[in-house]
Amino acid sequence: MASCPVIRSMKILSIETSCDETAIAVVECLGGRMTPSFAVRAHVVATQIATHRPFGGVVPSLAKREHLLNLPLAYAEVLEQLKAAGCEAKFDRVAVTVGPGLEPALWTGINFAKELGEKLGVSVMGANHLEGHMYSNWLDTEAAKKIKFPAVVLLVSGGHTALAVMDGIQKWRKLGETHDDAAGEAFDKVAKMLGLPYPGGPEVEKLAREGSPDAIVFPRPMLHSGDFNFSFSGLKTSVLYHMKAHPDASVPDVCASFQKAAIDVLVTKTMRAAQDCGAQSVLVCGGVASNAALSAELKRRAEDAGMVFAAPAAQYNGDNAVMIAAASYLGTAHPVETALPNLNI
Ligand code: KG4
Ligand code: ZN
Repeated sequence: MASCPVIRSMKILSIETSCDETAIAVVECLGGRMTPSFAVRAHVVATQIATHRPFGGVVPSLAKREHLLNLPLAYAEVLEQLKAAGCEAKFDRVAVTVGPGLEPALWTGINFAKELGEKLGVSVMGANHLEGHMYSNWLDTEAAKKIKFPAVVLLVSGGHTALAVMDGIQKWRKLGETHDDAAGEAFDKVAKMLGLPYPGGPEVEKLAREGSPDAIVFPRPMLHSGDFNFSFSGLKTSVLYHMKAHPDASVPDVCASFQKAAIDVLVTKTMRAAQDCGAQSVLVCGGVASNAALSAELKRRAEDAGMVFAAPAAQYNGDNAVMIAAASYLGTAHPVETALPNLNI
């Protein structure tokens, strides 16, 4: 896989439109790959949650329409933020998410980035969305200094659920991923069944605090599969069957029991991967990393095993453009012309 060495400081204008957030940021990236640090000069996230809420999930054609509307507005707001901060609107590079993600949504960002690159006379580099989530663990310089390699990374979001191992800042490989639903998607679908609003993860977590995690024994799919892949669709279906058989079931109990089953699988497989890889650190990232029960359990298990645990600041768990600047600076940067949407790296 082609990569270009990055050692110099750079002011990066970054764009993220892979799913349902239109995000643009300006980040000063310093220190190269050895001692990276990031100063956020501007950051806008225009969320489409209200648009997709009636459908209980992200509708790709609506996401595309919203990105097209929001991109120029978000860019204007970024310029305002730069002006207010007395920061020049001059950039060394435009970085844009090229995948994985929803293809119609990705193209809106890629085309906008290309137009901007041409207008500003700077190169446009494609960035990997998964690397963005991974490198969000490097946005806090002090926390990042404590991360030791090998590091096992659990990436859990609405679109992705994967385990990866990093042997160095740029040297990573996927260990496994979900065969069907992503963990966040399972939270969203269970929430929908229970009549809770989208996105369901935070709603399920809130109700789970009032319920008993041992009230219902839901299956732990692929817990003993012997690999590092996941499957959440069966777990979601078990919740559906339980609700059909017990229409009066306590919703907090269902939430707590479902959440416990999902966390059990995520944490057990992550720790198994960490032991297998001789990991010194365990990292979590993505929207579901905001789940306090998940991160507390992962932290406890990692620290019990003598490993460093790290998680990004809450504001960088969900999709954002700051992480895309970090991915472009630290990760595999592809000239956008050669980076296809949905690039599976
Ligand atoms: O990373 P993200 O913003 O978008 C994707 O790349 O998919 O993740 C959004 C996902 C949604 O499925 C949402 O329900 C889930 O993250 N999520 C949570 C929590 N907060 C967000 N899932 C469980 N517990 C939470 N507290
Ligand atoms: Zn994401």
